[in-house]
Amino acid sequence: MREKIIIDCDPGQDDAVALFLAMASSDELDILGITAVAGNVPLELTQRNARIICDIAGNKDMSVYAGCSRPMLLNLVTAENVHGMSGLDGIDIYEPVKKIDETHAVDFIIETLKASTDKSITLVPTGPLTNIAMAIIKEPSILNNIKQIVLMGGAMREGGNLSPSAEFNILVDPHAAHVVFDSGLPIIVMSLDVTHQVLTTKERVAKISKINNPAAQATAGMLQFFARYDSAKYGFDGAPLHDPCTIAWLLEPDLFQGKPCHVSIETGSNLTMGHTAVDFWGIGNTKPNVTWMHTIDADGFYTLLTERLRNFA
Ligand code: BDR
Ligand code: CA
Repeated sequence: MREKIIIDCDPGQDDAVALFLAMASSDELDILGITAVAGNVPLELTQRNARIICDIAGNKDMSVYAGCSRPMLLNLVTAENVHGMSGLDGIDIYEPVKKIDETHAVDFIIETLKASTDKSITLVPTGPLTNIAMAIIKEPSILNNIKQIVLMGGAMREGGNLSPSAEFNILVDPHAAHVVFDSGLPIIVMSLDVTHQVLTTKERVAKISKINNPAAQATAGMLQFFARYDSAKYGFDGAPLHDPCTIAWLLEPDLFQGKPCHVSIETGSNLTMGHTAVDFWGIGNTKPNVTWMHTIDADGFYTLLTERLRNFA
């Protein structure tokens, strides 16, 4: 049976590649809708970018919903330094043919979950968790209808990428992250510990650039741009391809290794705000609330991505 998913994202080149990977995998994944949130760039751009990606993928039937324009308590912090002013630098930006759906993303998430009572829907957040937390707060009964959450966010071994101790998606809206991590739902976490292993090396991007269809060409263009910031920052060959790890886990979980752990989100300290405090060794005698992924077969991941991008032809 196809896995029913809602992708909640802030595209972002790596979110865009996650969308392509999911749309290229329609035998396994049934995308019920794409919801956009403010994050890498403001909401007007993330929702437009999600629609551009649908256009490039030739996906006329997908619905895109705009959600929250700012975090729950904090001011919005964006990442144009990483993603460029458009959020999708590396491809041509235009006003997409695909129109935005009028329904607010939070209401779409709630209504879709309420209409499905068999706990079959997986949420896949690849941006700040504002939309998901707001849906839980507005309609707590949806907790009974969610199968699991597979999200990108947080860091333990790798340290932070927006502050010394916090990762971007969690630090942008730590209060939303607290609501989600405290929800009691099964949560799979793709943190920087995993995503820093899947680098967009020149060799891997060159393979993608040889695939002759619009989605693969757009992926190669975006990844060439995306590599420049992290290569300079970390001295890596390429950038960590964060967000597609979520979709890859749904498609090929055997590529990953993880461990059930308790994770708390820091919301009280200015110094370590947004830190994911992972009780990896069970020191606090805590009950696990997530599966913390720590290892990935990076070559296997790129084989999957590259092969799936051929499906657009
Ligand atoms: C996360 O932050 C964003 O910049 C990326 O899209 C990814 O979701 C990585 O920290
Ligand atoms: Ca993202």
